[in-house]
Amino acid sequence: MNSDIAHILVSEEAIRERIAVLGREIEKTYKDLGAEEITVIAITNGSILFVADLVRAIQGLHVRIDSVRVSSYRDETNPVSEPEILDNIRLDISGAHVLLIDDILDTGKTLQKIAKIMKAFHPASLKTCVLLSKKGRRRVSMRADFSGFEIPDHFVVGYGLDFAERYRNLPYIGVLSPESQNPPAWK
Ligand code: IMP
Ligand code: MG
Repeated sequence: MNSDIAHILVSEEAIRERIAVLGREIEKTYKDLGAEEITVIAITNGSILFVADLVRAIQGLHVRIDSVRVSSYRDETNPVSEPEILDNIRLDISGAHVLLIDDILDTGKTLQKIAKIMKAFHPASLKTCVLLSKKGRRRVSMRADFSGFEIPDHFVVGYGLDFAERYRNLPYIGVLSPESQNPPAWK
């Protein structure tokens, strides 16, 4: 285990198993809707590992993939700054079944704002999916249609999630030790 990690919260195996179940759930939901194709929109960079594994768990539908890059307010000192799109999608999503994917639902502001922007492109449907959710931290009323794990209020890294761009490559989700949070990660 990486020495900056206090403890592992979600193991590699647990992630793998949950993604297989999520893939089946997503397939069934869209098939019930009569959809043959979905357009996955990854909120980068955090969701890239999750999306890479999740789309491979979806084999019964055509899957298009695009991404949006969103500014991270955690890099700033002001925690109330709003998330902004730095780089938008390239695909035409009007009339498409869109599945918007992020790594973690924390205050809910990112997913809520990006979902609103995507809705303006008039997709046939828009659903959201996150690997992790910290319910206790919600600042806006937002829930994901598909969610991997409900986790306690800790700052976590790994499997795409970062602290100052580090730890995204860890294969598990871990709690960052306080000594490694310099400057503190907590908003
Ligand atoms: P929200 O807008 O507060 O829901 O924040 C979502 C974004 O904050 C995610 O896409 C992450 O980039 C970041 N974030 C929130 N909590 C954590 C965490 O515990 N570790 C790493 N990134 C986090
Ligand atoms: Mg992120």
